[in-house]
Amino acid sequence: MRKKLFYPLLLGFIIIQFMRPERNEGIGSKNDDIQFAFQVNQSVHSILKRSCYDCHSDHTSYPWYANVQPAGWWIQHHIEEGKSHLNFSTFKTYTPAEMDHKLEEIKEVIEENEMPLKSYRLLHSKASLSENEKQALLSWVTESRKRLNLSHHFNSEYKEDEQEY
Ligand code: HEC
Repeated sequence: MRKKLFYPLLLGFIIIQFMRPERNEGIGSKNDDIQFAFQVNQSVHSILKRSCYDCHSDHTSYPWYANVQPAGWWIQHHIEEGKSHLNFSTFKTYTPAEMDHKLEEIKEVIEENEMPLKSYRLLHSKASLSENEKQALLSWVTESRKRLNLSHHFNSEYKEDEQEY
């Protein structure tokens, strides 16, 4: 009984190895990165790179198991989902209102400890944010939103139709 199942499963496993998702390795212009949209100091940028860029940029650094399916598909799914919400590599192409909205969301996910994703943190212990790093990100968000100076847009009217960018 067991033997009968083993070979079809093995064959299936071998076949899916050929179905590789496309890699997320740098499409688009590097000049649209968030560091060119407004000031991001080195320490904040390196936190973002370390903890967020794998899923929220055009430059994922892949672990070895990304070469093994279905792990590769699972990773790909996170990247596509993550980038559709927020892409630091194209941040400069967002409108000021979009930027402000993204920054607000960044603040929320950090305060609520939602990002980086838990499953990712389990596999990348270095991606976890220390209290100091969270504070650094939060004050950078506040500073950047001040710099955008759009707070007058952020009244109830804007919030009501929560746009999905
Ligand atoms: C392993 C991939 C991964 C990493 C790493 C990651 N994210 Fe995400 N992020 C996602 C996915 C997937 C979504 C969309 C689904 C969801 O909200 O859970 C998302 C959504 C978001 C959103 C939108 C939330 C909303 O309310 O719509 C923000 C903002 C965000 N991430 C910020 C960050 C920041 C900041 C970091 C780094 C500290 C980070 N993410 C790290 C995968 C990731």
